Amino acid sequence: MEATQNKKIVLSAIQPTGTPTLGNYLGALKNWKTMSADYECFYAVADLHSITVRPEPALLRRRTLEMYALLLAIGLDPKENTVFVQSHVPAHAQLAWILNCYAQFGEAARMTQFKDKSEKHPENVNVGLFAYPMLMAADILLYQADYVPVGHDQKQHLEITRDIAERFNGIYGQTFKVPEPFIGKAGANIKSLQDPTQKMSKSDPNAKAFISMLDDADAIVRKIKSAVTDSESYVRYAEGKDGVNNLMGIYACCTGRSYEQIEQEFAGKGYGDFKAAVAEAVVEELRPVKTEFDRLIDDKAYLTACMQEGAEKASYFAGKTLRKAMKKVGFYQF
Ligand code: TYM
Repeated sequence: MEATQNKKIVLSAIQPTGTPTLGNYLGALKNWKTMSADYECFYAVADLHSITVRPEPALLRRRTLEMYALLLAIGLDPKENTVFVQSHVPAHAQLAWILNCYAQFGEAARMTQFKDKSEKHPENVNVGLFAYPMLMAADILLYQADYVPVGHDQKQHLEITRDIAERFNGIYGQTFKVPEPFIGKAGANIKSLQDPTQKMSKSDPNAKAFISMLDDADAIVRKIKSAVTDSESYVRYAEGKDGVNNLMGIYACCTGRSYEQIEQEFAGKGYGDFKAAVAEAVVEELRPVKTEFDRLIDDKAYLTACMQEGAEKASYFAGKTLRKAMKKVGFYQF
């Protein structure tokens, strides 16, 4: 089992913390699918990361299966790509421990996601939350990834991954590829529909603020209709028009049109027409995903077989890097 010759390597992951939003889809998953045609891709359901918020065990199990089904439903072919569940590949936790010892307390303490989550949940600031970026670095470095398709909110975690990789390579010689983030232009930072200064998040208590990837057409239309805009009523991309900019970003991602083309398309029209077009584009974008998800989720035997195959393929590649890193730090080997 060798990586296909000369293909660049891509790795990314998503937490199984609920049905992903349109933000997850346009910021990350859609690019996962596009990249799968040209790269050797490893895509994971990051269940180890998700226990930092202590989910109910049965719920975590269900969401892991659902997230896995959703990854196949967006069109990732489990034969062409390695689609796996993070906890099925023990090398992730093993390398994460090593990387913890090459990351400084100060740099991990500067992570904005750690600071935000600690502030929001002061009752559970666990060590896992703090060590989260080093586990993410392990996910990436194990596969010698060239590119990591993520949304803008993960950029800082990519930077610390690069810093740790460079530090380790500097001490022990070339061990890890230093990865580049792949952050799309339009979809990297999809905002809440109700407060477009905040990112769209599936944990938002206001369900009108986000579109879930499995929402039905009626819900999508309703939520986009009630999206916050401004009093100007011109469809144009400009500073201070966060709500309209966000809808334009969504429309651009779904249709492939540029902001200029969108401005021309809606010249002389109001926000009502614009919102109707955005809603229709989102419905059409998500319709095949939902149909395929509904079909796959009933086929647990198939999903489990794909998971097993994914875990074997991932373990093979990850094991090579893990052994190399263990040897470099001086662990005794037989
Ligand atoms: P997670 O599970 O929160 O989100 C998955 C992906 O969705 C992107 N994203 C967004 N993009 C645009 N607009 C939004 N509103 C939006 N919300 C989320 C995220 O940037 C991400 O790409 N720590 C990661 C999961 C992870 C990972 C990794 C990613 C674990 N190991 C290794 C890359 C490489 C996370 O919590 O993403």
